[in-house]
Amino acid sequence: MKKKPRVVATRKLPPAVEARLTRDYDAILNLDDRVIGADELVSLARGADALIVAPTERIDASLIARLPPSLRIIACYSVGFDNVDAAAAVKRGIAVTNTPDVLTEATADIAMLCLLGAARRAHEGDVLVRSGRWGRWTPTELLGAELNGKRLGIFGMGRIGQAMARRARGFGLKLLYCDQRKLPAKFAQGARFVADFDHFLAQCDILSLHAPATKETHHFLNTARIDRLPQGAIVVNTARGTLVDDDALIAALRTWRVAAAGLDVFENEPKLHRGYLELPNVFILPHLGSATVETRDAMGFRALDNLDAFFGGKTPRDRVNSRRAGIPSRRTART
Ligand code: DGY
Repeated sequence: MKKKPRVVATRKLPPAVEARLTRDYDAILNLDDRVIGADELVSLARGADALIVAPTERIDASLIARLPPSLRIIACYSVGFDNVDAAAAVKRGIAVTNTPDVLTEATADIAMLCLLGAARRAHEGDVLVRSGRWGRWTPTELLGAELNGKRLGIFGMGRIGQAMARRARGFGLKLLYCDQRKLPAKFAQGARFVADFDHFLAQCDILSLHAPATKETHHFLNTARIDRLPQGAIVVNTARGTLVDDDALIAALRTWRVAAAGLDVFENEPKLHRGYLELPNVFILPHLGSATVETRDAMGFRALDNLDAFFGGKTPRDRVNSRRAGIPSRRTART
């Protein structure tokens, strides 16, 4: 009988995903979800053919250089693959795949939740009730921002940006987007394209970030760009924490230059900037974008589909690094 490829999963995965993984592969699971450091990962990878890694693992060039020659593919259990140096991997002949499409709707739901949570002061309302300080209904308490008629700017109009636009239309928001290029009308969801960052930001009553984490988007939202936003704008980030300069956003939230933020992702998470925790006008979630039962299963199945294709001698549909170019072959992440 043909030997099954050995696959190491660095994190505990949903039961249905682990069941399929152990059925079809010689699987090394992380059943108690312990933290696996670089040295342990290198030793677990000895003799292994594939890794399934989560966004919590940093697979940089130095770690890739230490992986054994048996290792031929890294399947990311995520759409974003900024945690893996895909170019270094391809130089070693290691394919990298991600899980696009399957988490689009769940992540756009969380973006909408962050938008609503920030605009309607959900955190302050929740604290008021739980603290027992809620008195009578008052005409002036915890007044937030109406969405209907406001302008929502979507930075990064990929899959998730488009799904956010579809939802936002139902709330009466006027849509604009900024991306590397103008999209065909069928993808634009009725949103207006604005190429120039400054013109775009100046029109964002609400700015929602949906671009991948790259060198170009690192700290995209800095002090200078915040200064372009209308007074009292709302900022939503469900993409990657590195898109935001935390010190700049926190300073703007403190003075209400930015009225509120809804954030699901953070630089250096889970060790987010403590400044956010002191602010009443921030609605915070712990990176829950894809956290539904259906989506987390679908992400695992998509990662396994990629492994099945690869070990079946085909190119996995979600391969992100091309052998020819040696660089990520297409833009992706939370898009
Ligand atoms: C991803 O897939 O990139 C997410 O951030 C995990 O939810």
